[in-house]
Amino acid sequence: MVGMTEATDQAHILDGKALSEKIKQEIAAEVSDWVSQGNRAPHLAAVLVGQDGASRTYVDHKVKSCARVGFQSTLIEKPDDITQEELIAIVHGLNEDPGIDGFIVQLPLPAHIDDQAIIEAVAPHKDVDGFHPSNMGNLALGLPGFIPATPAGIMTLLERHGIETAGRHAVVIGRSSIVGTPMSLLLSRSGNPGNCTVTLCHSRTRDLAAHCREADILVAAVGIPGMVKADMVKEGAVVIDVGITRVEDASAKRGFRLKGDVDTASVAPKCSWITPVPGGVGPMTIVSLLRNTLVAARRSAGAH
Ligand code: GUN
Repeated sequence: MVGMTEATDQAHILDGKALSEKIKQEIAAEVSDWVSQGNRAPHLAAVLVGQDGASRTYVDHKVKSCARVGFQSTLIEKPDDITQEELIAIVHGLNEDPGIDGFIVQLPLPAHIDDQAIIEAVAPHKDVDGFHPSNMGNLALGLPGFIPATPAGIMTLLERHGIETAGRHAVVIGRSSIVGTPMSLLLSRSGNPGNCTVTLCHSRTRDLAAHCREADILVAAVGIPGMVKADMVKEGAVVIDVGITRVEDASAKRGFRLKGDVDTASVAPKCSWITPVPGGVGPMTIVSLLRNTLVAARRSAGAH
């Protein structure tokens, strides 16, 4: 269990930044062992298409984190007028490259490219994002496979803080295939963390606030800054904020600041635990991607 930090009278901060640093050290030690046994360092590739500022920041963090844990990394940058066929050819090249253990294509892609066609072109054993239907299917069936990094990171946050989930009611807001849908599967499946009773809410849910008020564990993954207000949260709830939207702020150095889906100032005093934005879920996403890549490297070398 990692240490608790007092946020308010009640809520403790689920400090993803601190925990991710600790886990990176653990991964670095495993990589060092792996390499000292005569294996080459795990190698993650990332494909970035276009100039979206947020995507570039995420990919830069992923690539920098590789160096921190002793991985090799390759960043492939392409302009946003790349054709779908050209992008698929890059994916096929990475599938075939024995020097690459796993890779990601950062989403979203430009509108003229079908995200799903790209996801399905990735070989499932190199799909460290866990987005391929084969990995998603394994997740739904409770079979081994790569689990998408953001929900996997949230599970690790809960586990490492010793937060009890069995029998509790989890409410997930947002049904995206990257976060909401896999999150609802992970929380409901047998295991620890897990064994929750899960409600998955979305844009057509009636009386969202009433559902949220029933949550012992509330996961907000909608991308609407400050949407979850204090009157939607039960006293003592665990609140996980996946939102990370850039909102204009002339006083900030970069002209924007990051805002989560939760109105933290009003919600934190009611919760037992809450993730900050930034420094909560985001850093945990990166360590889960690194963990998946280490698993891919071990598998490709025939080890476990
Ligand atoms: N865009 C937002 N989150 C993710 C992620 O986890 N992986 C990829 N590839 N793209 C994303």
